[in-house]
Amino acid sequence: MHCATLLRTACALAIFATQSAAQSSSSTYQSIPYTDIYTIQPSSPGPTFTSPLTVSTSVPTGPNLTNGLALTPPMGWSSWNGFGTNINEKLLRDTIDTFVSSGLQAAGFEFINLDDGWQRYPGSRLDNPLEADPVKFPSGIKALADYAHSKGLKLGIYSGPGETTCAGYTGSQGHEEEDAKMFASWGIDHLKYDSCCSHEFAPESVVQSVVLKMSQALLNSGRGIVFHACHCGWANSWEWAAQYGANQWRIGQDISDDFNYPGNRMKYFFDVLDLIDRGNPLAQYAGPGHWNDFDMLIIGLNGNSSHEGAGCSNVEYRTHFSMWAMVCSPLLIGSDVRTLNSDSMETLLNPEIIAISQDSLGNAASTVGVGNQDGGDLQVFAKSMADGSFAVALLNRGSVTAEMSISPSRDLTVEWPKYTVRDVWKHKTFGPYDTAYTVEVISHEAKILRLYEVVANASMPLL
Ligand code: GLA
Repeated sequence: MHCATLLRTACALAIFATQSAAQSSSSTYQSIPYTDIYTIQPSSPGPTFTSPLTVSTSVPTGPNLTNGLALTPPMGWSSWNGFGTNINEKLLRDTIDTFVSSGLQAAGFEFINLDDGWQRYPGSRLDNPLEADPVKFPSGIKALADYAHSKGLKLGIYSGPGETTCAGYTGSQGHEEEDAKMFASWGIDHLKYDSCCSHEFAPESVVQSVVLKMSQALLNSGRGIVFHACHCGWANSWEWAAQYGANQWRIGQDISDDFNYPGNRMKYFFDVLDLIDRGNPLAQYAGPGHWNDFDMLIIGLNGNSSHEGAGCSNVEYRTHFSMWAMVCSPLLIGSDVRTLNSDSMETLLNPEIIAISQDSLGNAASTVGVGNQDGGDLQVFAKSMADGSFAVALLNRGSVTAEMSISPSRDLTVEWPKYTVRDVWKHKTFGPYDTAYTVEVISHEAKILRLYEVVANASMPLL
């Protein structure tokens, strides 16, 4: 049986989370039987959703379009979280240059994506064409794409199916074929097609039809363009968007620069934990070419988001990055890469985390167990990897340190007589072990591990 299937069909397991010796003994721990990922509920009060999260187990039907792109989750940068509509040619060129000089490109980040605000005209497409703002982008978008390509990078752009976009610029309504051809002629490699505002209350069938129009137009354009059908986690996009040719779709509303904001910021923004809860039951919908998008990264915003958020600690940003890799979300940096500090760079450049994100199997992690203690919830996520190992996240959502453990036989349903544990933030390998591996996890940390079976000597190469 395939490892991923094994993960999801385990009949019973228990995650034992014991309190750190430094803590009092008043906490209680529960062993919670593994349940199928489709039925796991968020283990803390969730955010206020403006549309209910429904997860069906039926096989999706649809036009079965595919562009063959994004076989691993797209990695790169997007202008929105850090800059909003305050974008221009110099910022983009500087960002491209920084990708090259900082090692981000070498680490695998490749898309440089313009979000909303590159367009010339505010207002309806009925009144004005879709053109680049000549003040912000005097050389035009094609020149920018050429520049990105000359450095071995890719350029992304933004539009939407309404008369206007979310920020109020001309959209693509009624001009899908024309716009797709224009993007292709510019050398665009990624399109975020945003229906969040124009179709917020539209029925699922209408959202499907506008996604389909642009998806087909992109396929007709003759250029391979990664297609993000952005609908803010509404209309059950995960159930059908892949069938409609999308390579990624948002599973929630916009992220704010918060790890755990009390409540739901402005009744709209989701924090890191909200998005983890929101995406957990949706792991089944991710795979090569089609990804659940947990929204753009907030690492390095440090409270300076162009929108909302108080910022996170370095531990929290690491947890955020690690979890986005575990769940196979696209990894689009949202901060100003020209000014990232060494902590942020170290987080973003960890090759072992990126390897978990970019694994060729494309399995998205989901919970294999949960526990509770006074300070909050403990969750264990796992996913099987192409090389036969498992990537595991021990996530301490609570406010006090906890000891958490992972056991291959108990939690991953594999019988490994001996295994080693690679701590991918410490960059050290521990073991071998034949019983559960237990480790202290501080508040808001996700300990990210790779578990490898120790293969008998007979199969080891002779030196
Ligand atoms: C919506 C999207 C954001 C961003 C803005 C642009 O809010 O969810 O990610 O693209 O629109 O206006």
